Amino acid sequence: MVPAAARLSREVVGMAGEPITVVLTGAGGRMGRVVAPVLDQEPDIDLVAMVSSQYPRRPAPGVPVRCSDLPEVLAIVSPRVVVDFSVPAHSLQVIAAAHAHGSVPVVGTTGFKAGELETIAAGCVRSGLPALVIPNFSLGATVLARLAREAVRHLPALEIIECHHQGKRDAPSGTALRLAAILGEGRTAGIPVHSVRLPGMVAHHEIILGGRGEYLTLRHDSTSRECFIPGLLLAIRRARQCRGLVQDLDDLLRPGPGTGEGDGS
Ligand SMILES: NC(=O)c1ccc[n+]([C@@H]2O[C@H](COP(=O)([O-])OP(=O)(O)OC[C@H]3O[C@@H](n4cnc5c(N)ncnc54)[C@H](OP(=O)(O)O)[C@@H]3O)[C@@H](O)[C@H]2O)c1
Repeated sequence: MVPAAARLSREVVGMAGEPITVVLTGAGGRMGRVVAPVLDQEPDIDLVAMVSSQYPRRPAPGVPVRCSDLPEVLAIVSPRVVVDFSVPAHSLQVIAAAHAHGSVPVVGTTGFKAGELETIAAGCVRSGLPALVIPNFSLGATVLARLAREAVRHLPALEIIECHHQGKRDAPSGTALRLAAILGEGRTAGIPVHSVRLPGMVAHHEIILGGRGEYLTLRHDSTSRECFIPGLLLAIRRARQCRGLVQDLDDLLRPGPGTGEGDGS
């Protein structure tokens, strides 16, 4: 039985001024549990369903709908955006399912291999829909990347240290790999990345750039998962204006829609 609100949300999709309908997957995870109540309270966002292995397979009555079957949920509510914080193998399925239903995936999951990102970019071309796969939604971490871009022009020798809580599955972090890709563009040798996993930590990235008789340290610390919320909300609000595969929150902070990449433009 689909609640009236979910049915209504499906009908108003695409109408100007209406809330952005969102389905959240990985709702039972650490990030999912932080994100769900925030999405539920934003006035311009309508969290129509939450998908988790911890919910029943069939949609249970209630708003938002709770269910473990993503294709079933997408068929019912056709959301504008699907937000996912899970694991790469699952996220790839989420992205394909979202595109198949005309929804734009906004994915925070990290740990994708290069080939998987290419697959996502190809899916964007095929579906004509963007995919936002952004390894760090924190504004501070985005500024860190901007500052590092400037620093590396003058101090090209650098290494990256990333430190996270022990529950993090992937290493190096997606943020560190993205920083290494951005800062190492055009180099033949990769930038060394060091990973630390310790209790008490959330997410920390340090870039050390060495020069003649000096070194520069740029560092960002997430002290709580709240730091990912403003960037995530921005991504949800801008998602449908993007093109192709977008991997950097910075693309959304500049004026105009995110340009994206991997769409051949
Ligand atoms: N982009 C960012 O700013 C940002 C910030 C923080 C974390 N992250 C990334 O977001 C991801 C999730 O982080 P987290 O701390 O929330 O992790 P987590 O607590 O381990 O939660 C991951 C959730 O993914 C789902 N999941 C796990 N294995 C699955 C499988 N085989 N098939 C389907 N679903 C599966 C589960 O959701 P259910 O229990 O609901 O089934 C699980 O609770 C990680 O990759 C992390 O690095 C990104």
